[in-house]
Amino acid sequence: MIELCKVDDIPEGRGYRVKVEDKHIALFKIEGDIYAINAVCPHAGAFLDSGFIEDFNVICPLHGWDFDVRTGVSPSYGVKTRCYPIEVKDGAVFLKD
Ligand code: FES
Repeated sequence: MIELCKVDDIPEGRGYRVKVEDKHIALFKIEGDIYAINAVCPHAGAFLDSGFIEDFNVICPLHGWDFDVRTGVSPSYGVKTRCYPIEVKDGAVFLKD
């Protein structure tokens, strides 16, 4: 497993972006749980870690598409982006294979 960051690196209610190989991953901590989603918005490529959180949705800062960080599905636009399986261990966040 690849360590992405420490749990404490991720601010509550905001995103934190890491790059692993060719992947940009946006991490969010919501209500104490951590979620990992493709950081590159599938609409026009803005970084979703700069977006706004509403419930479990991140709202893209550029044009407002929304994505559920638990599933990658946009409730408003019906498109889907990738989520990544992670594991939290010893205060760090790992990308599962
Ligand atoms: S780039 Fe994200 S909604 Fe347009």
